[in-house]
Amino acid sequence: MEKLLNKTDIYNTFKLNRFSIYCQKKKLFLNLYGFGSILIPDLTVRKGVMEPIIIAKNLSKKFGEVVAVNEIDFTIYHGECFGFLGPNGAGKTSTIRMIYGFSPMSSGVLKVMGMDIKKSARKIKERIGVVSQENNLDTDLTLLENLMVYSRYFNIPRKEARKRSQELIEFMQLEDKKKSRVDDLSGGMKRRLVLARALINSPGLLLLDEPTTGLDPQARHLLWQRLRSLKTSGVSMVLNTHYMEEAAQLCDRIAVMDQGKIITTGQPREMVLEHVGAEVIELRVAPSLDQEITHTLEGLGLKTERFGDTFYIYLPAEKGLLKELTQRLIPLNHQEMIHRQATLEDLFLQLTGRDLIEK
Ligand SMILES: Nc1ncnc2c1ncn2[C@@H]1O[C@H](COP(=O)(O)OP(=O)(O)O)[C@@H](O)[C@H]1O
Ligand SMILES: [Mg+2]
Repeated sequence: MEKLLNKTDIYNTFKLNRFSIYCQKKKLFLNLYGFGSILIPDLTVRKGVMEPIIIAKNLSKKFGEVVAVNEIDFTIYHGECFGFLGPNGAGKTSTIRMIYGFSPMSSGVLKVMGMDIKKSARKIKERIGVVSQENNLDTDLTLLENLMVYSRYFNIPRKEARKRSQELIEFMQLEDKKKSRVDDLSGGMKRRLVLARALINSPGLLLLDEPTTGLDPQARHLLWQRLRSLKTSGVSMVLNTHYMEEAAQLCDRIAVMDQGKIITTGQPREMVLEHVGAEVIELRVAPSLDQEITHTLEGLGLKTERFGDTFYIYLPAEKGLLKELTQRLIPLNHQEMIHRQATLEDLFLQLTGRDLIEK
C-alpha cells in the first residue's frame, strides 16, 4: 500500500499473471487465472496517490430505536483489505449492507468508487462482489448452474458466463463438485462457491461478511489463500470478522467496532504494539493475590489488568524485561503461567473490557 502501481507496473503484473497461468496449467493447478485482465479496468491508479475506493462520513443506520451504526467515519483505499473487527451486534453487517446498497443508510455520506450510494446504487452494485453473512445459494441447482443464474443479473453473455464460471470453479478448487447440487457440498465448499459467485462480474471491490465463520481450520485456511491471491491481483476488500486471526492474516488496516461505533483504526500489528505491547504474560491466579503480584512487579513500569480468572501483564517491545519478570513471578502461588505474543484480542479486551467473541 505504500507505493501505488503505475501503468507499467500493472502491465508487468498482468504479464506475470499470464505467465503464471502458463506454468500452472501444466500442473493442472490454477492461481490467478486471467484475473489480471478482468480486474485491471477497475483499478484507479494515479502515480503516488492513494485513491479512496470508499468514503464514509457520519454514517448511521437505525432500526427504530436501535442505533446499529452510530455516526462512523472511515476511508478505504484501492488495493487495500480493510477489516471491521468486532463482536456480534457491533454493527458490521449493517455497515457492509449500506455499502452495497442493500440497506438504505439513515444519515451521513457514503461514496463508493467515487459515486454516491444514494444516487448510483445500481452502478455501484454492478462493480462490486458480495459474500453475505448467510450463504443464500440456490440449493436445488448445481454449482455451475448457480454461477450461470447469477451471471444473468449482470447481463454477461452466456458464452462468456460459462467461461468465467468454469475458471472460477477451478480457482476455488471446486472442480470435482462442478455437477453436484449445492446440498451435497460441505460448509467450506459452499463458502467458496459464494465467493466464486461474488467474482462472476469481475469486481474491483469485494465485500466479505464473516467469510469463514463456522468453518473448520482447514476450510478457513483454504479460503484465506484464495482471498490473498485475489488481493495480490489487485482486488480491494472490506472484510467483516470477529476472528482476530482472520483480521491479522488478511487485513492491511482494521477498524475495531463496538456498539455501532468505531473505537480505533489502524494497522493490526502497530495497533497491538501501541495499545497493548509486544508480549503478554497470563497468570491464572485467584483475585486475592492481585495485590501481591502488583507489589512484586513494582519498579518495572508494566501495564497490568485483571479479567475473569486471569491476571495479565503486558510487556513493551523494547525493554527486554522478560527474564527479570519471570524470576519475580516464579515464587508466586499461581496455577499456570503463559507467555505469548500480544494479539488483537488483547487490544479489544483493553479497549472494551470484554472478549471479542462473546460467549
Ligand atoms: N433488520 C434489523 N432490525 C432490527 N435491528 C437490527 C436489524 N439488523 C440488525 N439489527 C441490530 O443492529 C445491531 C447491529 O447488528 P449487525 O449490524 O448485524 O451487527 P454485527 O454484524 O456486527 O453482528 C444489533 O443490535 C442488531 O440486533
Ligand atoms: Mg454480522
